[in-house]
Amino acid sequence: MTTFRDKLLAGKTAFVAGASSGINLQIATRLAEAGAAVTILSRSPDKIEAAAAGIRAKGGKCIGIAQDVRDHDGVGAAFAKSVEAHGEIDILVSGAAGNFVAPFNGISYNGFRAVIDIDLVGLYNVMRQGFPHLRKPGASCITISAPQALHPYPLQAHVNAAKAGADMLVKTLAVEWGSMGVRLNSIIPGPIADTEGMARLAPTPEAMEKSAKGTPLQRLGTKDEVADLALFLCSDAAAYITGTVIPCDGGLCLLGAGRVGG
Ligand code: NAP
Ligand code: COA
Repeated sequence: MTTFRDKLLAGKTAFVAGASSGINLQIATRLAEAGAAVTILSRSPDKIEAAAAGIRAKGGKCIGIAQDVRDHDGVGAAFAKSVEAHGEIDILVSGAAGNFVAPFNGISYNGFRAVIDIDLVGLYNVMRQGFPHLRKPGASCITISAPQALHPYPLQAHVNAAKAGADMLVKTLAVEWGSMGVRLNSIIPGPIADTEGMARLAPTPEAMEKSAKGTPLQRLGTKDEVADLALFLCSDAAAYITGTVIPCDGGLCLLGAGRVGG
């Protein structure tokens, strides 16, 4: 049951990129429930406004900004709007992503660039433009990676490359920004129920069942389970944790590369 009883993040502000749906929207919702003033961003104006209205309807403080993370200057303008609305940023979550299933020889230049530009260059844009607005010391940044960052999944060359690069960027920034009191950590969700990502990677009920049974815990994860980890990582309980890549995946990543596409 969702409630707004526990205001552990009261007085804090959060910016969540790629949050009109799925895992990132659940993270944004939970941050707002915990009392943070939240800005959410994604491309579709209708989707992002509906998502922000949903959070406000539950009692949270939230604005939505329609912006493509591939637009460096546009991301800068989004941070300026967020700071004007809520002030300096305590929690920065970067999770915008694109995916489709295709063999390397079926991925065009534009297709490869689209995924690299959203998942990796988009992360650069969010971190580079967000940094001046982070509370220092004290800010916590979280990126949403994928099992493809650790193991070479067939039919996922673009995502494998983008997410592995993104996790290395997180580790690099953890080293560079540590002395300023800024922490960065990456979450690797496993197969998560009721998400666009899983609809694309496991498009039939049989493929979905196979994905669930392919994890040591023998089930899909929930968006809330990923959001719980995000809340922990941005809380004071994680104050000495930085530069980590943490799976929330039912043990999937222990097993090496799985298969996608059914
Ligand atoms: P989703 O619902 O499609 O979430 C992606 C979000 O990013 C949407 O809000 C989308 O909104 C936004 N977005 C996409 N391209 C964007 C762009 N260029 N600029 C700004 N926003 C953009 O997918 P999801 O399955 O929940 O995935 C969320 C994250 O979890 C991703 O980083 C994904 O790689 C990761 N992940 C998911 C799973 C899973 O099981 N689902 C497993 C491992 C990792 P718009 O379309 O309106 O822009
Ligand atoms: N197989 C092969 N190529 C594909 C493809 C597929 N299933 N889907 C898209 N592409 C190619 C397109 O053909 C295009 O290349 P081309 O110009 O050479 O024809 C290129 O990818 C870009 O496609 P486009 O639709 O113009 O890009 P976009 O920027 O509007 O969208 C995507 C980006 C392709 C990643 C799109 O799937 C998306 O917006 N995804 C966001 C949601 C999502 O993926 N959620 C799950 C996250 S895990």
